Amino acid sequence: MKLLHVDSSILGADSASRRLTQAVVDRFARADPGLEVVRRDLAAEPLAHLSGALLAAARGGATEVDEAVARDLARDRQALAEFLAADVVVIGAPMYNFTVPTQLKAWLDRLAVAGTTFKYTAEGAVGLVRGKRVVVVSTRGGVYAEGGPDFQEPYLRAFFAFLGVTDLEVVRAEGLALGPAPRQRALDEAAARVAALATDAAGAVAA
Ligand SMILES: Cc1cc2nc3c(=O)[nH]c(=O)nc-3n(C[C@H](O)[C@H](O)[C@H](O)COP(=O)(O)O)c2cc1C
Repeated sequence: MKLLHVDSSILGADSASRRLTQAVVDRFARADPGLEVVRRDLAAEPLAHLSGALLAAARGGATEVDEAVARDLARDRQALAEFLAADVVVIGAPMYNFTVPTQLKAWLDRLAVAGTTFKYTAEGAVGLVRGKRVVVVSTRGGVYAEGGPDFQEPYLRAFFAFLGVTDLEVVRAEGLALGPAPRQRALDEAAARVAALATDAAGAVAA
């Protein structure tokens, strides 16, 4: 089984989402000693924002591509290929300013490719991604589960649903900025959720 491990927190060793994504990956690795893990650290190696030059090159319309665009195009193709090849995608998605980190958005922008991960039809857009399981680790300082301006989890659910992903689950740790006790409680609850995750590619069998 192939697992793509994506982190986007800028908080390094202090990051809650990094700790939790690693726990998710460790759980999958324990269940499948042959697990192939591909790592993508979007804070350590950020992808560039989309550019007109990149889009022109990617669609094959550009006649001349300079070195920087060629490099960006290679990274773009690699990011998409990693996503397409993975059976399971584990994504660390902290809430920054009510939404996902800009580093994560830059990666998502590389995944939505008409004709590859979705297509437009007379009836509307249709997702083309099949057989992929996505586990989102959502961390946030405040509490949004019962309401509030949350453009992080709903955005990620809408984005992956648009691509055709039907198997997405969220491991959430929220209220992390509310003090040491609520923080620890949230982390413990999230760790328990990780421990209960199914570890097959389809996510169908709870271990
Ligand atoms: C730049 C920045 C912006 C943040 N914005 C929000 C926010 O809008 N809402 C919120 O509840 N928490 C916010 N937080 C708190 C983070 O969601 C919280 O620290 C969480 O643990 C981040 O995950 P991480 O530790 O993996 O980076 C913000 C933190 C940072 C560093």
